[in-house]
Amino acid sequence: MLLLLAACAHQPDPVTGAQKYDLFCSSCHGADGTAGVQVDGVAATDLATSVGTLTDEVLTSVMVDGVGTMPPQRLDDDEAADVVAYLRLAFED
Ligand code: HEC
Repeated sequence: MLLLLAACAHQPDPVTGAQKYDLFCSSCHGADGTAGVQVDGVAATDLATSVGTLTDEVLTSVMVDGVGTMPPQRLDDDEAADVVAYLRLAFED
């Protein structure tokens, strides 16, 4: 029972999130969030200024479903939660 509970309640982990960010995000957004690589003529949003204005739900849907010209990223729910935890640490004051 305890094991089951532990498996269900994922504790978002910013360290794992940082690794996922490097793999899935930094190619367009850059290590510091400001790289602004263009996709179909649209620059990747500056995460250093935008993350603080977006809710966890929006950040998750942006990653999993994509937004505008940003393609969806292959992250499961736990991985997306880890990346959100990292984004909050790295890109919010
Ligand atoms: C292939 C390049 C690419 C990758 C990979 C990528 N993004 Fe993006 N991202 C973009 C572009 C381009 C936009 C702007 C889309 C638009 O406005 O049409 C964007 C927008 C965003 C936004 C702003 C959304 C909004 O509603 O303002 C966030 C947040 C974001 N990306 C986070 C991430 C995260 C986190 C990852 C990794 C899981 C990631 N992106 C991976 C290119 C990328």
